[in-house]
Amino acid sequence: MMGTSTGAGTPAKKRDLLSIAAIATELPGLLARAEELKRLRAAGQFPTPLRNRSVAMIFEKPSTRTRSSFEIGTQDLGGHAVYLSPSEMQLGRGETIADTARVLSRYYDAIVYRSFRWQDEAELARWASVPVINALDDREHPCQVVADLLTLRERWNRRFAGHRLAYIGDGDNVCNSLILGCAIVGIDFAAAIPEGFRPPPDILATAAPFAQRAGVATRIVLDPKEAVQGADAVYTDVWVSMGEEAETARRQVAFQGYSVTDSLLDLANPGAFAMHDLPAHRGLEITDAVMDGTRQAIWDQAENRLHAQKAILEFFVPPRPSSTS
Ligand code: CP
Repeated sequence: MMGTSTGAGTPAKKRDLLSIAAIATELPGLLARAEELKRLRAAGQFPTPLRNRSVAMIFEKPSTRTRSSFEIGTQDLGGHAVYLSPSEMQLGRGETIADTARVLSRYYDAIVYRSFRWQDEAELARWASVPVINALDDREHPCQVVADLLTLRERWNRRFAGHRLAYIGDGDNVCNSLILGCAIVGIDFAAAIPEGFRPPPDILATAAPFAQRAGVATRIVLDPKEAVQGADAVYTDVWVSMGEEAETARRQVAFQGYSVTDSLLDLANPGAFAMHDLPAHRGLEITDAVMDGTRQAIWDQAENRLHAQKAILEFFVPPRPSSTS
């Protein structure tokens, strides 16, 4: 069993969530469990598989949703989460990631890590003897996309097959995890992304066998109108991610015409809705009218971060033998 103690305080085996592809096999079950945890919470029921468990949360960048959902999710599950800012840790004064990983593994049962660089995420996972969960890096945002797939599953009556998601904007970390997540669960995916901002070839190469197995396509085009044709949902993300502020002017020029507006939604399938992982820059990648209107699933996505994070925590942090649910 993952993370089972050998008696020496070292997990016999641990798994990390650095990419959504790491949970390709378990993803459908994880989404079903997230839905169940959501239902139980609404009924006032709180299973506590994380009783006497602790989760470290290292955030190199700001966060509203990810930090809150992991903290409250850990509490819901009976555990304790500790927020660690690198500026207040020895990590910020030069202690190595490897040493930090080894020390934190002696206290905590999992480490949630938001980093600027995916290499740092991999380094922490390499040295930690407890699971490392990627809370966003420059390559992927797997926890966000688990919540997004939960949202789509709800909207589409638990059926992904036969549906298409369009993505408009930057081929960034969220887009990368969406490409992989859609290929894994079998959602047709079409993205409109300007030249120079496309997803890395290895993400597309990783997605290809999953898409082929599911019988869906992963297409990258230039024209947003082409991408939204036949789409049941239209997703966008900020044009300037955290850490890319120096590129703001260049990006705002490159992404002109890539806004999600009511007129763009009109070109998608009837009933199509907008999605955004937030925070949004209203008036740039998405209009006020779409965000505040009825054709969106944005606030459901934000809520579902909590339920998705709980399912992820429960999966990656197995209960102590003495715990009861
Ligand atoms: N979507 C998302 O990751 O939000 P935060 O940056 O607020 O965590």
